[in-house]
Amino acid sequence: MRTLDDLDVKGRRVLVRADLNVPLDGETITDDGRIRASVPTIKALLDGGAKVVVCAHLGRPKGQVNPKYSLKPVARRLGELLGQDVDFAADVVGDSARSTVESLQDGQVALLENLRYEPGEESKDDAVRGAFAERLAGLAELYVGDGFGAVHRKHASVYDVPELLPHAAGGLVVAEVEVLKKLTENPARPYVVVLGGAKVSDKLGVIANLLTKVDRLLIGGGMAYTFLKAQGHEVGKSLLQEDQLDQVRGFLDEAAKQGVELVLPVDVLAAVTFAADAEHEVVDTTAIPADREGLDIGPRTRELFAAKLADAKTVFWNGPMGVFEFDAFSGGTRAVAEALIASDAFTVVGGGDSAAAVRKLELPEDGFSHISTGGGASLEYLEGKTLPGLAALED
Ligand code: 3PG
Repeated sequence: MRTLDDLDVKGRRVLVRADLNVPLDGETITDDGRIRASVPTIKALLDGGAKVVVCAHLGRPKGQVNPKYSLKPVARRLGELLGQDVDFAADVVGDSARSTVESLQDGQVALLENLRYEPGEESKDDAVRGAFAERLAGLAELYVGDGFGAVHRKHASVYDVPELLPHAAGGLVVAEVEVLKKLTENPARPYVVVLGGAKVSDKLGVIANLLTKVDRLLIGGGMAYTFLKAQGHEVGKSLLQEDQLDQVRGFLDEAAKQGVELVLPVDVLAAVTFAADAEHEVVDTTAIPADREGLDIGPRTRELFAAKLADAKTVFWNGPMGVFEFDAFSGGTRAVAEALIASDAFTVVGGGDSAAAVRKLELPEDGFSHISTGGGASLEYLEGKTLPGLAALED
């Protein structure tokens, strides 16, 4: 994979595919982690005298212009972080984009409007995607792939444009891949993975693969209830994916066969309703009342998980342990994060909600070896899949 050092960028227009898909509350960015992570590559290109054209997506506007998903607030924040103006193009490959790009001087930067306003970006039809990729590539002379969070998407800006322009991987992509390689190629043991989040169906591939790789798998969050049910427990009104029970029973058998220690919650905070101020109590997972739903792992589980992490040499964590957005149900996620911070292991937080939780709970980001910017991307990498956006950057 070529890197920035292999590109001569001085005076050239460089298209940077970044992942600036940040959570917004109206026009307020509630977590700017991905924008901050994109800054070093953009800065390096600007310092090298390039004219930088950044492109990115925000949310899922499905090929339609929708102001709710405009990247304009992101342009403002990027400008603050870079300490210089970011010209914002009001479209992706139209008149505004072309004139904005044409007026860039060396060392100046522009951000195009949301790539996903264009149906060609995500089209499954190679010709449609290819035609849009031609227009996007036409805005620049060189391409830098740095949107790690989107490298698992076979989209025009990720997969097709690098075919059309001399290209390199940006510093963020290089750093993320290096970390994930450490996890997949020869992890120091014990290798412990903590998985959480709402749905087990989102993690089937990665669980199947991890069961051949890890020493211990700790399962919390909403997905734990399908495991508990598969073990024969009643889970009340907790999140349950009945259609995944057979699959999960297969995982339980496979873990036993592979000698993987699969650790499930032993107690939970069971609430009467899904609300921030819901009345709740600690119950054992063998006795979840029929009219209650588990919204966080309980205190004994927090201790159990911390103990199972204490001797780890490598840890990967993806997915919150409970509804961390509600203070009353954030304790389990905090406990797992704190166990990672206290650990001497190589610790990786796998993007998405767990990275957002670290920042929301105001935990020190430097307490972890690495916080990935890619949720789905890091999971698919660990699943052993070929990621289109990485394949496209290979020489
Ligand atoms: C993410 O948020 O994981 C990436 O930005 C990719 O977004 P997507 O899941 O909408 O493709």
